[in-house]
Amino acid sequence: MKKRIKKVVLAYSGGLDTSIIIPWLKENYGCEVITVTAHLGQDDELEGLEKKAMDTGASKAYIEDLRLPFIEQYIFPMLKAGAVYEGRYLLGSALSRPLIAKRMIEIAEKEGADAVSHGCTGKGNDQVRFELTFKAMNPKLIVIAPWRIWNIRSREEAIAYAEARHVPLTVTKEKIFSNDTNIWHRSSEGGVLENPWSEPPKGIYQIMSSPESAPDDPEIITIDFEAGIPVAVNGSRMNPLALMLKVNELGARHGIGLVDMVENRLVGIKSRGVYETPGGTLLYIAHREIESLVLDARTYHYKESIAPLYAELVYNGLWFSQLRDALDGFVEKTQSRVTGTAKLKLYKGNAIPVGRKSPYSLYREDFATFGKDDVYDQKDAEGFINCFGLPLKVRAMLKLNGTGEGGYEQPDYSKFKRD
Ligand code: ARG
Repeated sequence: MKKRIKKVVLAYSGGLDTSIIIPWLKENYGCEVITVTAHLGQDDELEGLEKKAMDTGASKAYIEDLRLPFIEQYIFPMLKAGAVYEGRYLLGSALSRPLIAKRMIEIAEKEGADAVSHGCTGKGNDQVRFELTFKAMNPKLIVIAPWRIWNIRSREEAIAYAEARHVPLTVTKEKIFSNDTNIWHRSSEGGVLENPWSEPPKGIYQIMSSPESAPDDPEIITIDFEAGIPVAVNGSRMNPLALMLKVNELGARHGIGLVDMVENRLVGIKSRGVYETPGGTLLYIAHREIESLVLDARTYHYKESIAPLYAELVYNGLWFSQLRDALDGFVEKTQSRVTGTAKLKLYKGNAIPVGRKSPYSLYREDFATFGKDDVYDQKDAEGFINCFGLPLKVRAMLKLNGTGEGGYEQPDYSKFKRD
């Protein structure tokens, strides 16, 4: 028996990996186990879960629908920031962990638990994300990460362990991929995907169609935003949950939002992941279209430059960090006028922006036109280019004078006098 612990709150999905933790904790610590399952949109995995947890030996099973807070407090801030990890991953798993972990801590405090536990392995990012949130929320609670402690190493061993303890299993004999599904995305890793050269097998996509099987006809949609937040699809206003379901349906139908990439995990390992983010991809594209109208160049470029940093913080489990909070302050300030409508053409894996409008648009057709205008004096451009290009000109003059770069000899400026 290990250190004595009274009550543990366990992040529980109902899968094999977290199911065997229940008897293991009870055997090794003599403790009570309370399970917490966050309903974040993984609908089919939730059926009969409470009974399953209790049958496996939990003393209490929390199953909480956290889809709305997930969308409003996690997805929307990230969408406003335009955060994308390594240029492609829309962070669906990374984003959910702080929410689940925060809720676990709240439940642990309410239940008077002295420890928290999760089913993440010692090789991934998720363990870091859970535990950094535990630390940020309540550093006093003991953290138990069984997959880093016990000797169970394979799926076969886990199944044998479960069978010996009569853990009810709904799992199939061989699990092909490691998946994580929520309302934002579905990730697949492992199995044949471990070879980065092998193409994802048919049938891997579960929440969307493949581009090949998408309709042959394009579909034009509109998405409305108010202050950086999506509020309507095709003109009809929806609450955040209904809207997320709607954009998922549209993106999924047209095979939009597939990512197949090799990413850098925080723990130093490179891993290959396949992601389905149908609705999220549409929202990112639409949001950017409206920003392109309403943000001035400097603000837009600066915002773009911090987006990878924001993504890295989310990926690395630093959601509850001072820096992310501060970045949110900047992002929020930029969003007050991100109001308007984006028009997208959905066609076989692509979401092509074909229009955008906003009451706060800084775009002025009379300035931009290739036709005749009376607001922009083209002569002004000459002086501007002379000043803007002066450093280039001086350097080129030095070269012409034969001194080359780093030469100190003054050129004969008289050769370059203006007429
Ligand atoms: N590689 C992705 C990430 O680190 C996905 C992780 C999915 N997690 C899982 N337990 N299957 O965010």
